[in-house]
Amino acid sequence: MRPDELREMYLKFFEGKGHSTISGSSLIPENDPTVLFTTAGMHPLVPYLLGEPHPSGTRLCNVQKCIRTGDIESVGDSSHLTFFEMLGNWSLGDYFKEEAITWSFEFLTSSEYLGFNPDQLHVSVFAGNETVPVDDESIRIWEKLGIPRERIFELPMEDNWWGPAGKTGPCGPDTEMFIDTGKAECGSKCRPGCSCGKYFEIWNDVFMQYRKTDSGSFEPLSQRNVDTGMGVERTVAMLQGKASVFETELFTPIIEAISEGSGRDMQADADTGQAFRVISDHLRSAVFILGDERGVVPGNLGQGYVLRRLIRRSVRFARNIGMQEGFSGPIAERIIENYKHAYPELETQRERVLSELMTEEARFEKTLNRGTVELSKVLEQMKVHNQSVVSGRVAFRLFDTYGFPLEFTEEICSEQGLSVDRKGFEKAFKKHREVSKQGAESFKGGLGDHSEATTRLHSATHLLHRSLQLVLGDHVQQRGSNITPKRLRFDFSHPAKMTDEEKQKVQDMVNEVIQKDLSVAMEVMTLGEARESGATALFSGKYGEQVKVYTMGDFSKEVCGGPHVERTGELGHFRIKKEGSSSAGVRRIRAVLE
Ligand code: SER
Repeated sequence: MRPDELREMYLKFFEGKGHSTISGSSLIPENDPTVLFTTAGMHPLVPYLLGEPHPSGTRLCNVQKCIRTGDIESVGDSSHLTFFEMLGNWSLGDYFKEEAITWSFEFLTSSEYLGFNPDQLHVSVFAGNETVPVDDESIRIWEKLGIPRERIFELPMEDNWWGPAGKTGPCGPDTEMFIDTGKAECGSKCRPGCSCGKYFEIWNDVFMQYRKTDSGSFEPLSQRNVDTGMGVERTVAMLQGKASVFETELFTPIIEAISEGSGRDMQADADTGQAFRVISDHLRSAVFILGDERGVVPGNLGQGYVLRRLIRRSVRFARNIGMQEGFSGPIAERIIENYKHAYPELETQRERVLSELMTEEARFEKTLNRGTVELSKVLEQMKVHNQSVVSGRVAFRLFDTYGFPLEFTEEICSEQGLSVDRKGFEKAFKKHREVSKQGAESFKGGLGDHSEATTRLHSATHLLHRSLQLVLGDHVQQRGSNITPKRLRFDFSHPAKMTDEEKQKVQDMVNEVIQKDLSVAMEVMTLGEARESGATALFSGKYGEQVKVYTMGDFSKEVCGGPHVERTGELGHFRIKKEGSSSAGVRRIRAVLE
């Protein structure tokens, strides 16, 4: 089965069970300062898991692109990826364990669908702890479906509990599905969840019935939800009987491009294999981040830093297999080719993706040369003095002065049996940030944050957006938004720095609308209808998809998930604190309500 067929079959299957297919979201979360990237399909749906009605109903399914860079150092083995596609079906206070598990089983094993042999299927369930009991209900359902008790594993919270991407939010026990690859057990403790590769996890059904609070306790949610996630890459590998995701057509054309560029064979030896996997994974992620509708560019903070790290790490491995500057272009072209039918945004952003990659590569070549020389000097000195730990201060100087990433210093050091004082580095980094006033903000808030302060800033963002269009012109388009309970941050397209007069005009306009105390109304309609009615619609979904449209008097009309205040008068006084450049052609405003 090809990846396209899998995506289509999955959505059809769940549509047949009463689900509406919704569009996947951007990789760059909107209005969520708690995470840098969309890490799972459930992430953009957090408000709905917490009780906000979804315009498409209570049963949803989709394909979501995800980035997880938590274990970037593990990439290079046979299964770790930083970018992956997740198929998901959701119940928002609708069905629960019985239906979710039964449908997962049907989709996995029925010959009409994936047709896995039920004997290959192993599952895990939550073992329970002091506060939440063992998930007996899931055990009973799996048994009823014919999975023998010895293939149902009870695992602790680290394995079978899905927590929120941010620190607080919806969570609950889960049941995970594994395919036994037939490999020998790695030892007597080998079981689903073991990393040896015998059991390949392909699907996870999460039963979200709790909300993790700021204090770390679990409160029952007002509605019980289901959040499932099936990994496309992993499932395709298992369906095709491949030992690794890199052997599927999601990767083979990319691997070929690396082979052509380096003149090497991936199978040559272990290091070459690792380099091929790192390069293909990291560049695939970089292409998807750069090609996202809300594309970010390489930088030294936040998403930009993760992107920079992915590109730079791929450069380093590319060098190891003899690839020269400019290597990333042809590989990126192949990635776009391989994915553009499913993700047309990559084709639209092709030029941008390629030029940003090239620029970052060239920038890094320079850095790398200077940094490597500098680091070798440090290492020589250390050998002379018989030292084995690079101080945080030195690692930070390499980072700050030479742009040499900490991870590289660590990797190079560990190759020579040395280590780096990471804590010391972080200390130095923090000090630097305070000094340079880049602002260490407390990242409270998130999509689950419906606090009054956040809601008011969210509504103020709509007023700001419209005022910018009226003052600067219709070319102004939202390019990003990020809200904490303390401030809003709004990125928009505009070619020049705003003048003081323009800023004042915008601020006055927002305050005037606030004073008019306009009523805020919400209507549900299709995206097509919303666009036709003149609503600002940022997201690129299907014409017929149901969306919410928020109108503020006759001033602003936007497609948005909400929530919002009821009247603009609730907002108080709006003040622009800062206007500056975010990236080429994009300006950034920080503002507060007082
Ligand atoms: N949120 C769960 C996961 O990412 C299920 O979708 O595994």
